Amino acid sequence: MSASVTVRVPAKVNVQLAVGAARPDGFHDLANVFLAVSLYDEVTATACDSLTVTCEGRDADQVPLDRTNLAARAAQMLAARAGLAPSVHLHIAKNIPVAGGMAGGSADGAAALLACDALWGLDTPVEDLLPLCAELGSDVPFSLVGGAALGTGRGEILTPVAAGPFHWVFAVADGGLSTPAVFREFDRLAEGREIPVPQASPALLAALASGDPDALAATLANDLQPAALSLRPSLADTLAAGTDAGALAALVSGSGPTTAFLVRDPEAASKVAAALEASATCRSTHTATSPALGARVLS
Ligand code: C5P
Repeated sequence: MSASVTVRVPAKVNVQLAVGAARPDGFHDLANVFLAVSLYDEVTATACDSLTVTCEGRDADQVPLDRTNLAARAAQMLAARAGLAPSVHLHIAKNIPVAGGMAGGSADGAAALLACDALWGLDTPVEDLLPLCAELGSDVPFSLVGGAALGTGRGEILTPVAAGPFHWVFAVADGGLSTPAVFREFDRLAEGREIPVPQASPALLAALASGDPDALAATLANDLQPAALSLRPSLADTLAAGTDAGALAALVSGSGPTTAFLVRDPEAASKVAAALEASATCRSTHTATSPALGARVLS
């Protein structure tokens, strides 16, 4: 056992997010092609008398530090399963936008699970951690495994898919969007319409595997985008600023409000990021590559 364990965990973008009708349990069936990107949070678990959470980073004040925090819930869940007390201090170094549609909270949940598992010397196999992740949230299993995967069910049933390297720019918006609110807006916009069963696009999966950014740009699709734009119309200006600057494609990341721009290479990434910053249509930008590894112990 070590005194302290740090886990690094990536953000995600959904290159396809096909959304079905609301289920009786309130969730939506998805065909969700997740891609992990090189924008990371770090969670450090340290032995402590009781369960406490601290957070640093630009939006740290928006992260709940009580037991509703997904990292705290992960520690409690793992401790209960192992018959231990959740005596751990969790420190989150936050870079992933908060409530931004990049699975930042889910990432912290997956990272805390792995960090506590190592701190407590449990050595739980990944296949036994995945059901705990699914209980924590629909996106948490993917945060643990990273890479590229198709998520079905409510997004928690993962099948790895092939992905070549791609370059991205992410524009962080002022303020977050509530995921449940975006799904509710999706339901409102879909009223009276037949919603097809969500299915992964073969063309998108082929483009993702090929590493051809033009092919991927032509197939990116997010069914939550109209709902996110309806709740935050100004995102249209951000999307336009990125495509005007030469992005191959622009889309809302997951439930938003972060927007994602696919670019050809690192030079294009710098140019698009600079144009977005100058446009005053977003708060800040990040450049990143994909696919990124999932949650990993650093120390
Ligand atoms: O699974 P998670 O707790 O992250 O989901 C947050 C919320 O997003 C859910 O309570 C639900 O309102 C919505 N959601 C959904 N369908 C999904 C995933 C999430 O409606 N497949």
